This record gives sequence, C-alpha cells and structure tokens, in this order.
Amino acid sequence: MAAFLGDPSAPLSVVVGSQIKLRAEINSAKALFGAQLKHDARPRVNGVSRGMPSHWLFWVFLILLVTSTQEASSQASGSNTYADLAPILVQRCVMCHSGDAAPLGLRLDNFESVLKGSTRGPVVKAGDPSGSELIRRLKGISQPRMPMTGPPFLSDSEIALFERWVTAGLPRGGVAQDAPPSKPTTLRPEAGQAVTYLHVAPILATRCSKCHAEKGLMGAAPEGYRLTSYDSTLSTADRVRVVPGKPDASELVRRIRGQALPRMPFDGPPYLSNDEIRLMEAWVAQGARDANGKVAPNPTGAAVRLHGTLRSGWRLDGLDLDIGAHTRIDKSPKSGDFVEVRGRLDEAANIKVERLRRR
Ligand code: HEC
Ligand code: HEC
Repeated sequence: MAAFLGDPSAPLSVVVGSQIKLRAEINSAKALFGAQLKHDARPRVNGVSRGMPSHWLFWVFLILLVTSTQEASSQASGSNTYADLAPILVQRCVMCHSGDAAPLGLRLDNFESVLKGSTRGPVVKAGDPSGSELIRRLKGISQPRMPMTGPPFLSDSEIALFERWVTAGLPRGGVAQDAPPSKPTTLRPEAGQAVTYLHVAPILATRCSKCHAEKGLMGAAPEGYRLTSYDSTLSTADRVRVVPGKPDASELVRRIRGQALPRMPFDGPPYLSNDEIRLMEAWVAQGARDANGKVAPNPTGAAVRLHGTLRSGWRLDGLDLDIGAHTRIDKSPKSGDFVEVRGRLDEAANIKVERLRRR
C-alpha cells in the first residue's frame, strides 16, 4: 500500500496483484474522480476547497476498495470449502492417501473419507484447526510432517486455506455427492528424467511405513529405522541403509531384493514388484535425490551393516569388500555362506570392513 501511495504512477495491477475485477473497479473509481485527477490540482468537492490534491481522496477510496475486494474475492472464490482443497489433495496427497494401502487407512481422495479420518480417528475437527491432526501435520507440529514428500511442503497460503475450511465448519462446497474416489496415481519418471524421492516415497508409504514409523504395527520402528520422510530414510544417525550412488552397498536395496534376510517388506509375500525394485535401485544409483531432484550428500565415515552371500574374492553378492588388517573375521565364513558385514564408508563410498561373520 505504502508503495503505491507514495508513487501514484506505479502500475496498479502490479501493486495489487492480477485481480481483474479490482482493475475494473479501479477504472470506475478513476471515472468518478477522473476529471479532477487530470486537470485540477486543488479541486472543489461539493463546492468546498479541500486544500489538498484530489488524488489524496482517490487513494483513500482505493485503499478501502482494495481491502473490501480482497475479502470479497476470497469469499467469492469459496476458499472455505472442500471443493477448493480437492485439487491440492489430488496433487500432493492422493498418490499415497488412496486405495486399500493408504497409510494409517487415511484416504484423502474424497470428501467422506477426509471426514472419516484414519484408523486413529478423525483428522479434522470442525471449528478447531489447532486440534485437527491434518492441520498439525501440514504445519509440522505433528511429525512426520505432510506431505511426506516434502520439502517442499505446502505454502503458507495453501495451509491457510485448509485452516479456514476447518474454522468454517468443513463445508463441502461444489463437489458432487457421488464424486468417484480418485485412483491411486503411480508416479514414474519419464524417459530421460531422473528418479527422485517423489517417485519412490509412495512405495515406502504404502508398503513399509506401517512398521517403519514412530508408532508402527510392531511398536517402535524396527531397528529404529523410519521410512516416513526423506531425512529419516537417508539418516546417518546410527548407520546408513541407503548409500547414494551404491545400490549394492545399501541394505535397503538388499532387503527388497531378498539378498539380505529377512526380505522386506517383512509381511510379504507379496514383495515389491520387479518394476518397483528397479525403480528403487535406480533412485539409489542416481544419488538418492530428494523431491526437488537434489542428489544426497556422500555419507563419508558413516557406519554400515549389510547382509548377503559371501562370494570368492571377498565379495558380498556383487559388491567388492575392503578386507584387511582392519577386519575381524568370525566363524570362518566361506564362499556361499550367509554373512553379516559391518564397516565404514570411505570418501569413495567403498566399505572398509571392520567385522565379517557367518550368520
Ligand atoms: C509419500 C506419501 C505421502 C504423501 C504424499 C502424503 N502423506 Fe500423509 N502420511 C503418509 C504416511 C506414511 C503417514 C503415516 C506416518 C505416521 O506413521 O505417522 C501419513 C500420515 C498422515 C496423517 C496423520 C493421520 C493420523 O491419524 O495420525 C495426516 C493427517 C496426513 N498424512 C495428511 C496428509 C496430507 C494432507 C497430505 C498432502 C498435503 C499428505 N498426507 C501427503 C504418507 C504420505
Ligand atoms: C510388517 C512390518 C515391516 C514392514 C511392512 C517392513 N519392514 Fe523392514 N523391517 C521389519 C523388521 C521386523 C526388521 C528387522 C528384521 C531383522 O533384521 O531381523 C526390518 C528391517 C529392515 C531393514 C534393516 C534395517 C537395518 O538397520 O539394517 C531395512 C533396510 C528395511 N527393513 C526396509 C524395509 C522396506 C524398504 C520396507 C518396504 C518395502 C519394509 N522394510 C517393510 C519390519 C517391517
């Protein structure tokens, strides 16, 4: 406001955004004051000289107009109803929150399901945004923050849209009563496009996170490994299970292939499809990119613990192992034995083995 008050020549449409309706009203405001603006520096309004420039009055009028038009337009576009949120849900949530395998049974693909909530209960409480789990997840007050693919998370204005909807009492808006639920979308990179976390996260969410979460089916996450966010999947806190660029050195990949046992998902079969396994491998091979396409940093010095079959020439399945004076070898493992390998990653992400033992 101050900007265009000080500079009446600033283009109005830039200052106030692209509200065409507002523009029209500005034009009529100009029409009202037009003659004075053009010709009269010290106008008479109702025959009384105000002793100040006419555009002073014009701008006051305009400010009132801008304020009321902004309010009017947010109501007119109905940003308080489910109909306005549905496109965001389809774009950012439904890839995971739909179908029989939706995380925590929470489907966000139609109005009734959103109101129904998860196996833990409703996620929206009419009139109570701060008591609504859905809002808490969008803001990161409850973890893991949603969407699980973030960052990027939703913008402040998108989150505000959800909050206003809850405050307004969860009105449906112009969505058909019998609108069919959206189909779970399978995200696959196009030819030549990099595989990112955006592509693999729905698999982790629907096949793994029921156990690998803070409070999963088995209580705490098995091995403390949570698959509910990019950061937790890549975490180096105790040891790494994903080594960017090295699928064979990644316990996560070994587990879904069935090279490391027990094979994952633990409740399989069915295990992941060949297509899903290849996608996961490609994601790791290409550097375990985040949803923005940024390659993960090299976890130099991090600990690893791998399982697999020992092959001749100190290889774990296809993976070369750095065995030397620094290695303690237990239970005299031979080629063909199932073994556990513990070690650390060097700068080139090769595994310097500290301990090798038969299982
Ligand atoms: C990549 C998959 C994925 C995407 C995309 C995603 N979620 Fe989730 N969501 C999950 C998983 C997995 C959980 C369970 C995490 C846990 O154990 O708390 C979850 C949990 C939730 C919960 C908690 C339910 C409860 O009862 O505690 C809410 C609410 C939620 N998601 C809302 C959303 C919204 C809204 C979006 C879109 C803006 C979204 N999610 C996008 C995977 C996803
Ligand atoms: C039904 C529960 C369950 C599901 C579903 C599940 N896991 Fe597991 N996961 C476990 C258990 C239990 C272990 C520990 C098993 C062991 O090593 O003895 C484990 C261990 C792991 C480990 C080894 C962790 C480490 O620190 O070495 C990885 C990696 C893993 N799971 C990945 C996955 C992936 C990826 C998926 C989905 C494709 C998945 N899990 C699905 C229960 C589950």
